Amino acid sequence: MHVFSCEQFQKLMASSGFRGPWHSLVDLGAGDGATTAHVAHLFEKVYATDISAPMRWALAKKKFTVLDVEKWYESGPFDVILCLNLLDRCDRPNTLLRRLKSSLAPGGRLVVALVLPFSPYVEVGERGDHKPSEYLPVKGNGLEGQIASLVDRVFAPLSLRCLVWSKLPYLCEGDLGQAYYFLDDVVFVLEAQPDSSRYSASEWMDTEPSGREFRNLPQQQTGYERKCNTA
Ligand SMILES: C[S@@+](CC[C@H](N)C(=O)[O-])C[C@H]1O[C@@H](n2cnc3c(N)ncnc32)[C@H](O)[C@@H]1O
Repeated sequence: MHVFSCEQFQKLMASSGFRGPWHSLVDLGAGDGATTAHVAHLFEKVYATDISAPMRWALAKKKFTVLDVEKWYESGPFDVILCLNLLDRCDRPNTLLRRLKSSLAPGGRLVVALVLPFSPYVEVGERGDHKPSEYLPVKGNGLEGQIASLVDRVFAPLSLRCLVWSKLPYLCEGDLGQAYYFLDDVVFVLEAQPDSSRYSASEWMDTEPSGREFRNLPQQQTGYERKCNTA
């Protein structure tokens, strides 16, 4: 599974205004750690979690410190938290988002990736029907509507401010019919705001970019076009 290269990650972090420190990274729901491995060398300490035992084994083999899925935050706070393609796969995404916010070090960044259109599917959940126990209010037609809905209805109420987002191709493992799938993944770089300061996507989208918009990200091997926006 491939989400971003090290170069793309660094570009996103720089565009969000993050200048460090680069002490600690935690990648939640890291899968086999392929994406973690692209950025791990930037940090002094790298932690990862996954609910699946084979994935935890793969993560430990890559020498990441594997934390308990229920207690990972006890090793925080973290300078950077990755939550890549997990919110639509976990049973309690709202609870997780609140925990993510409270586990960020001051000035830290939360990087969330989601396949859009949003389509949650929980393998092991309390309901037993593959639907999540907690509902994320993602609405809207088309990619931009869903992005605005995530910024306004999911992140803003938790005082998570979107600094940068980018659309990337998500290369993930396929099935018997097709070896790999390319999906539209949207990556958000968020910062924790004091609870009183709320904002909205309309405010964010109507505002002129503060000179940080960039369109010339280096093309990756896939040749997929990528678009980045900053707030
Ligand atoms: C779609 S994969 C994403 C893997 C990787 N982050 C990526 O973006 O390629 C979702 C992963 O989250 C794991 N997962 C699901 N619920 C989880 C939870 N509550 N805590 C940690 N990992 C979880 C699954 O086992 C799976 O490896």
